[in-house]
Amino acid sequence: METERGTTVIRTKILGTGSYLPPKVVTNADFEHLIDTTDQWIIDRTGIKERRIAEKGTWLSDIAIEASRSAIEMAKIDPKEIDLLILTTSTPDQPLPPTAIRVQERLGLKNGAAFDLQATCSGWLYGAALADQCIKTGFCRHALIIGAEIMTGVVDYSDRSTCILFGDGAGAVVLGRSEDESGFYSHHLYTAGQFMDVVEIAGPGVINPNTHENLEAKLHFVKMKGKELFKEAIPRLVSSSREALEVNHLTIEDISLYIPHQANLRIIEAVARRLSIPMEKVFINLDRVGNTGSASLPIAIDEINRQNNLKKGDWLLLATIGAGLTYGASVIKW
Ligand code: UT7
Repeated sequence: METERGTTVIRTKILGTGSYLPPKVVTNADFEHLIDTTDQWIIDRTGIKERRIAEKGTWLSDIAIEASRSAIEMAKIDPKEIDLLILTTSTPDQPLPPTAIRVQERLGLKNGAAFDLQATCSGWLYGAALADQCIKTGFCRHALIIGAEIMTGVVDYSDRSTCILFGDGAGAVVLGRSEDESGFYSHHLYTAGQFMDVVEIAGPGVINPNTHENLEAKLHFVKMKGKELFKEAIPRLVSSSREALEVNHLTIEDISLYIPHQANLRIIEAVARRLSIPMEKVFINLDRVGNTGSASLPIAIDEINRQNNLKKGDWLLLATIGAGLTYGASVIKW
């Protein structure tokens, strides 16, 4: 909590982080035996070298719980003190009930609000922004925001343009009230619905029910217009990042670390060039984990936190883009 010109500013900060990556590693070379591709093509076009794959039979809730346990342990709070749980995913355990409910039950959380949030790869940042408002207004005291995906369950392993991109994993962050000036400063979230068909899983759902024909047409797999998404991602990551800096009267020099959604190294490098931020200040782990959807940002935050290189007072700029298109940026003072 800090005081600015006589008014009390309540902030929300990160109390604990955790992540979980399945042990099984799939390298680019492994794909060379499966589809018409090469290690070099994948590295040159995406920057990805390997990704983690959940073993068959692993539930989304299993990996979400692993990440959450680490985050709660670091936060040093009793699970019963968590009164808001938001699980963000595009690959839930099942359509109903939300996976968050199974996680709440298995973690032994308080009977507070628990729900799934679907905002594609931007889901975790949307969830964190929502929880930030809930903590500030006193709606809840502690929030657990999980991003988790088993993308390999919705990827077509005969489609070379998508199957090489995605990996499985989970990240979780416990948020609570800040006692000083550290925490979230602002969120800038957007949706560009005119691009809703650029990435989709078309069924099963109301439009495309679970029929034999729809299954044969592979409507249950991710389809992506990669080039279109690539072109749209860069200016949107740049504009939301710039807005986040401006609102907080920060320049790019003030930022200690830029943490973008990990989809494609070429996208990230193009964004960094436009923002004039040197790549040494840009966090990258996509070479090791691939695109983990809504788990991308919380996995990154946990890795960064556990590396212990951040100093109190460091400014972090987070940026995201995903199907929808959903996109945006947030600023954190560490
Ligand atoms: O999490 C949501 C955010 N997601 C993203 O931001 C993804 C954005 N898009 C991308 O990352 C890129 O568009 C891809 C990596 C998906 C594709 O890279 P690209 O440079 O846009 O390639 P392209 O789709 O234009 O394909 C170029 C060529 C095509 O062959 P032809 O038509 O020129 O003969 C593809 O068929 O590369 C071919 N190709 C491949 N070749 C070897 C596509 N996938 C592969 C592959 N291996 N795995």
